[in-house]
Amino acid sequence: MTAATTHPLMTTQMSPVTTHDLVHAALPRIIQGGMGVAVSNWQLANAVARAGQMGVVSGSMLDTVFVRRLQDGDPGGHMRRAIAHFPIPGVGDEVLRRYFREGGRPEGTPYRLLPMYKQTVSIARQRVTVLANFVEVWLAKEGHAGAVGINLLTKVQMPNLASLYGAMLASVDYVIMGAGIPREIPGALDALALHDVARLRFEIEGAARDDVTYLTFDPREHWQSASSDAPAPLQRPRFIAVISAVSLAMTLARKATGHVDGFIVEGPTAGGHNAPPRGELQLNERGEPVYGERDVVDLDKMREISLPFWIAGGVGSPDGLRSALAAGAAGIQVGTLFAYCDESGLEPVLKARVLDAVATGEASLVTDPRASPTGYPFKVVEVEGDRERVTRRKRVCDLGYLRVPVRSASGTIVYRCSAEPVDAYVAKGGDIADTEGRRCLCNGLTSTIGQAMPRVEGEEPALVTSGDDLLALDRILERMLGRMLGRTTGDRRYSAKQVIGYLCA
Ligand SMILES: Cc1cc2nc3c(=O)[nH]c(=O)nc-3n(C[C@H](O)[C@H](O)[C@H](O)COP(=O)(O)O)c2cc1C
Repeated sequence: MTAATTHPLMTTQMSPVTTHDLVHAALPRIIQGGMGVAVSNWQLANAVARAGQMGVVSGSMLDTVFVRRLQDGDPGGHMRRAIAHFPIPGVGDEVLRRYFREGGRPEGTPYRLLPMYKQTVSIARQRVTVLANFVEVWLAKEGHAGAVGINLLTKVQMPNLASLYGAMLASVDYVIMGAGIPREIPGALDALALHDVARLRFEIEGAARDDVTYLTFDPREHWQSASSDAPAPLQRPRFIAVISAVSLAMTLARKATGHVDGFIVEGPTAGGHNAPPRGELQLNERGEPVYGERDVVDLDKMREISLPFWIAGGVGSPDGLRSALAAGAAGIQVGTLFAYCDESGLEPVLKARVLDAVATGEASLVTDPRASPTGYPFKVVEVEGDRERVTRRKRVCDLGYLRVPVRSASGTIVYRCSAEPVDAYVAKGGDIADTEGRRCLCNGLTSTIGQAMPRVEGEEPALVTSGDDLLALDRILERMLGRMLGRTTGDRRYSAKQVIGYLCA
């Protein structure tokens, strides 16, 4: 039996269910995709896991999100409830002393910032990251026995080991990483599970081949300075890599430093960052990268790797799930549909504004090859007024998660981001052409979840990303909610549980 499908990734001949598929029986069919920054927060992941599928928290910039929640008075006391369960003595009290503000910040008061990450940072700085990731996973897992994962970006190298350790202290079940080649992460998970030193090669731009240096994280330093022994070994989470080419999946399956447990096969219709097209970059009339045949992942070859995989990007529908299963996938990873549900971290007013703009046909979505300082294409949602707000913004770099380490002529490492003030970037040896069209993802994405930094010239403008499905969201919601929405605005609220009910229908 063979069947055709509409999804661009599924060019495979579809086969009947095989023993290979039966191995997938214990795996989740739906992964709620990790969505930074804190769009997939603990509330969303908890709701999804309770509904029997895999909830994923985003670990990107979570330490900043966490200390801002504390400065906003920790409404509901959730952060403090989770902190009380952190196993390393004294850490929670110290972080609360520094960042918690009873009753929240007076309006317009700037947030207190964390020191920016570098190759080495103080134990105290690492601990904020460890604690923040622990708290998010702990809350996502609270009150049920479902599976919870954490999503991190390989390219945001510097906080990753501390983030992973924090998530593992809260017994995270899965680690999902893309945006780069996470070859060394499986080995790092093995080490961290034993509270051993973990290290990753530090990727330095402009470094000579033999200029090898590492990022290291030693759990014992944290336990010793808290004058308490490291506890029993931790659960080693399953590791899933996000890929958009079979060759990368094969390389990781063979050459990763430890076991890889599966893959997310993500297409260019997915929200967030996309892999660039293979070959020379060509742009369409809207300035978006053009993807072609070479970017289509051969799912027959994916099956040959004999590890479970999930399809992501524009497959958030019952048909998408059915087609994915028929193609030998364990299921689908869905982002956009979850990003606008009640439990997501997207600021409610902004959520409604985007959904209204979709209803009236005034929202636009562009795959922007320039916006992200990472250099990966990034999908940007625009509604009325966004462009002016962005043009008015004065460049500033005070969060620094996307800063790239560069070996300077004098041999030192400098840290720069192409979205930082142009003069500063050029003074660090950067090419002015790199700065063109860049958006500050760090500040833009934190504004999106209601943590905008107040500035003299106004609040930091929000930056919303979504998959191509966004523009068809009304049709999807009509099917999901079972009623016509027309072009009227408002009244589009739905829960994560409804999304799962719809997808599994
Ligand atoms: C708001 C938003 C933020 C995202 N952020 C991340 C991220 O931080 N890391 C990641 O691996 N994928 C990210 N993604 C991709 C999702 O995890 C998922 O793979 C994708 O959304 C699936 O395609 P869909 O949007 O068509 O459902 C993001 C997607 C959205 C919509």
